[in-house]
Amino acid sequence: MKYVIGVDLGTSAVKIILVNQHGAVVQQVSKDYPLIQEKSGYSEQNPQAWLDQTVAGLSELLMDFDGNREDIEGISFSGQMHGLVLLDKNHDVLRNAILWNDTRTTAECQEITETIGKERLLEITKNPALEGFTLPKILWVKKHEPEIFQQVATFVLPKDYVRYRLTGKLQMEYSDAAGTLLLHVSEKTWSTYICKELDIPLDICPPLVESCNEVGVISADMAKITGLSPKTRVFAGGADNACGAIGAGILEEGKTLCSIGTSGVILSYESRDDLDFEGKVHYFNHGAPNSYYSMGVTLAAGHSLSWFKDTFAKDVTFEDLLEDAGSVPIGSNGLLFTPFITGERTPYADAEIRASFIGIDSSHTRKHFVRAVMEGITFSLNESVHIFRQKGREIHSIVSIGGGAKDDVWLQIQAEVFNAEVIKLSSEQGPGMGAAMIAAYGCGWFESLKNCADHFLQVKKVFTPIPENVKKYQSLFSIYQDIYIATKNINKKLVDFRL
Ligand code: XUL
Repeated sequence: MKYVIGVDLGTSAVKIILVNQHGAVVQQVSKDYPLIQEKSGYSEQNPQAWLDQTVAGLSELLMDFDGNREDIEGISFSGQMHGLVLLDKNHDVLRNAILWNDTRTTAECQEITETIGKERLLEITKNPALEGFTLPKILWVKKHEPEIFQQVATFVLPKDYVRYRLTGKLQMEYSDAAGTLLLHVSEKTWSTYICKELDIPLDICPPLVESCNEVGVISADMAKITGLSPKTRVFAGGADNACGAIGAGILEEGKTLCSIGTSGVILSYESRDDLDFEGKVHYFNHGAPNSYYSMGVTLAAGHSLSWFKDTFAKDVTFEDLLEDAGSVPIGSNGLLFTPFITGERTPYADAEIRASFIGIDSSHTRKHFVRAVMEGITFSLNESVHIFRQKGREIHSIVSIGGGAKDDVWLQIQAEVFNAEVIKLSSEQGPGMGAAMIAAYGCGWFESLKNCADHFLQVKKVFTPIPENVKKYQSLFSIYQDIYIATKNINKKLVDFRL
């Protein structure tokens, strides 16, 4: 039996899976690392922690593997998007990585929009300037940390950095490069125009490769430490959302994904590069050759629930917490939650907004709050479903992955809020499976990623919306939408009180 490894470098942990030729996950390991939040709106991580935990995870996996390590033919990577890793001329890390959910760069986003022009920016990058993307972070370092910026020789994204350390070869692949706001998305080249206008040296942009390209082998040193064979073939991999889509079979027109990890996304496969979403949703290169995807992003999806648990229910397991919420009726007895704990991306792109619980009643207990958080996250994701439908897209079924796909009550909430069938897969592994599939395809096991998905993925259960519940959720969604409008100015006034 042959195997491949998928590494998913997430925001809270690195998850590593060993997958056999039938698509079965035969071993898995997860290693977490901390988030560094010095101030409200800041979110950083130490790239060395990603590497250390990936190496520790791989060693653990290999230690428990009783086959021949040379049968592990390939490895590939999925990673949190947009995070800025700055390297000097020796490829040493210059500062902590600034992550996708860091929102300190509102001024830089304005600078980009004013200098390049909204229309021109959309034409080149297909996206507006948003705080989470990489280019505003580069400009922030240039302005606020000039002594660091002058040492910058190149920049990479989180999983590209880890892959570089494992192979000694430095590249960035297109699905992640698209999220930098420096890539000409349809031409697949770095935008000389944007670099020139914003005075960013073009030569700090690394060489570009395709997701499925073979980019090297595990270096002798890393082979020794991890236990991997130095012959293990390394494939570039993709952005976590691209890999989540591949791992859920979102590889043809008409397929839609709901992924709830730290962030949450509603993602749709696109074969064309010329659709006009007016920047309302993100539009990036897919990891599958010559294709794209559009997506709306909820900044704190799983993060809202883990924040709630860590703050108010540390002693309970997630399973117990969610099971409790299953007994609460739709609408959580009049309690609504907006998941804006770190600001919001789609549809508001507002770094200052913060979360609310609205309608707290003395009859409410912890389980009502938990259900309200689950419903609020789903309402936020429904904003993206709503945008796609307004653009004329028909969405009748959605594949759900991530934390939100582990609980049947939440899957039923998704089906009824989205008013669509929601599909749960048998071996739901999220982006790690997409990375493993890139390696499987790269090793020549299948003629295409689609062919690999047909072999690897099976539907486990379909959740069908109950029309009466859909109606209730439609009324609640409209009240949910009022909360942003009602709390926007209040939150603006609170900014000065945030540390
Ligand atoms: C997408 C985004 C997040 C991260 C999470 O634009 O910022 O979904 O990729 O890892």
